[in-house]
Amino acid sequence: MCGIIAYVGNKSNAGKILFEGLHTLEYRGYDSSGIALINEKNNIKIYKKKGIVKLAKKKFLKEKISSKIGIGHTRWATHGEPNNKNSHPILSYSKNFAIVHNGIIENYSILKKILEEKGYKFRTDTDTEVLINFIEEINKKSKFDFENSLNTALRQIRGAFAIAIINKKIPNYLYGARRGSPLVVGISENNFFLASDASPIVKHTNDVIYLKDNEIVKISSENLKITNLKKEKINPEVKKIELKIEEIEKGGYDSFMLKEIMEQPKSIKRSMLGRINVNKKNLFINGINDYVKKLLNAKRIIIVGCGTSWHAGLVAEYFFEKYTRIPVEVEYGSEFRYRNPILNSDDVVFFISQSGETADTLESVKITKKKGATALGIVNNVGSSIARITDEGCYLHAGPEIGVASTKAFTSQLIILFMIGVRLSNRLNIIKQKKYVEMIYQLNNIPKLVEEILEQRNKIKNIAKIIYKKNSCLFMGRGTNFPVGLEGALKLKEISYIHAEGYPAAELKHGPIALLEKGTPVIVICTRSDEYEKTIANIEEVKARKAMVIAILDSKNKHVSEMVDYSIVVPQIKNDFSPILNIIPLQLLAYYVAKYKGLDVDKPRNLAKSVTVE
Ligand code: F6R
Repeated sequence: MCGIIAYVGNKSNAGKILFEGLHTLEYRGYDSSGIALINEKNNIKIYKKKGIVKLAKKKFLKEKISSKIGIGHTRWATHGEPNNKNSHPILSYSKNFAIVHNGIIENYSILKKILEEKGYKFRTDTDTEVLINFIEEINKKSKFDFENSLNTALRQIRGAFAIAIINKKIPNYLYGARRGSPLVVGISENNFFLASDASPIVKHTNDVIYLKDNEIVKISSENLKITNLKKEKINPEVKKIELKIEEIEKGGYDSFMLKEIMEQPKSIKRSMLGRINVNKKNLFINGINDYVKKLLNAKRIIIVGCGTSWHAGLVAEYFFEKYTRIPVEVEYGSEFRYRNPILNSDDVVFFISQSGETADTLESVKITKKKGATALGIVNNVGSSIARITDEGCYLHAGPEIGVASTKAFTSQLIILFMIGVRLSNRLNIIKQKKYVEMIYQLNNIPKLVEEILEQRNKIKNIAKIIYKKNSCLFMGRGTNFPVGLEGALKLKEISYIHAEGYPAAELKHGPIALLEKGTPVIVICTRSDEYEKTIANIEEVKARKAMVIAILDSKNKHVSEMVDYSIVVPQIKNDFSPILNIIPLQLLAYYVAKYKGLDVDKPRNLAKSVTVE
């Protein structure tokens, strides 16, 4: 959700550095992009444009000015439509300052009114312009001490922000600050970077500082100073990022999404590494070790997430309740945070988030902690806000997920949740030792089975060719595979723009069946489970309405294969682990449908990777 990159140092190609960074950050937003540089004459030069990064870069390349300091931004619009004027960087009224901003200023309309009364004219529709003019107004009064002005302004701002600012009156200094939205400082001798995440920094350095909420950083090529809003000096903790450059490149695939789908055998394996030990016939969830007792005695488990992460939570709800008999509730972060949730000290709340920065999930963690319940994270992005503020947690270790549609994070979330469920169940003596060991073997074998499904991608591509011109698709499944239907529908709608809904199979006759017409695609997840026969009966109902059934099966059941129009056969797996296999063909189906429609799967319209605004 908006990507920020900024640079100050002794290299005079700041423009090039910023655009390289913006290309890496483009997955965070691609409505518009731009950079602002301070040139040798101490003037601010801005190159920005509606649309993808390439377009703004084209403008810059015509001039190619040399500069040692600048800020850049790739936008996901919140206030003001995505057009050239609303693109960042945004200049203050005097044109002395330029700002890039990720987040939402909640009290912007009051501040705008005050500023208008003082004679400020606004050139954009953004809350960001209000923020920079507010800083400018305070700066006029505080005898031009910019650091103090920034501090005073930010204390009066409500909402979330990560910002980077340059000031032509003090042209060697770069300023940054955050509250709610992430901001990382990269350090490489006399060269410093500010960015929304580590991905554009890793090319230059592995040394980073994760700024905390309400911290302000002032940087020149000589010096870095961090203060908080109480004006206390902060001693920063420099951390090493473990990201490798290859991990954020496409590695020969046409898109990050396909690369990430295809690497799932590896990413799932990485999630199990050091946790499953087949030789010792055991599994260890070290990340949450200190809270295992608490989990075993929990009166209830709550799982909070958004989008795909929420779907992973739903799978876990079925799985945990079946195998641990602890009641589980699954909540959207956006609902949980606003309904004054009833939480007790013996509740354990899991927060699932790929990015670790989703605003609604992050806020839910804060509420949970305030109310004295235990907060555990299941997060992919190492060092992210949710990972840092939860009591303990398990990293997915799936590697960076850049494709906007979440794929490998989902399967890694599932494997972690399955491992936690199996471990707890064994400790509760619900799964006995023999079955426990059998389940460990099955979990360990999942990457191989995923590989077998990926090998069928041409068959799935052919099915995509049949449905890509349709307007609407339904997905249905039962039990742990109902959330797989939801996730399959989400994947299809977000990257192919085909209307898609997921339902529990039996729920169709309570309304959605009215949508079925001759040829409407209905994707049915019908792998072996306790409800298998019932799902087959639901297929009959759908076929009776002449809809087109595409079934995910796990055996060559002749009767079902003959009944449906198309089938995709996945390997058989027992014990409710099937969601992790069944989602793979649905990811591929969505991918190929979008490709047939000629769409950019990595940049679906209106979306951004990390939703850091509520
Ligand atoms: C869908 C997708 C989103 C995210 C959601 C939560 O493909 O990616 O629905 O799952 O925005 O994001 P995280 O997991 O980063 O909290």
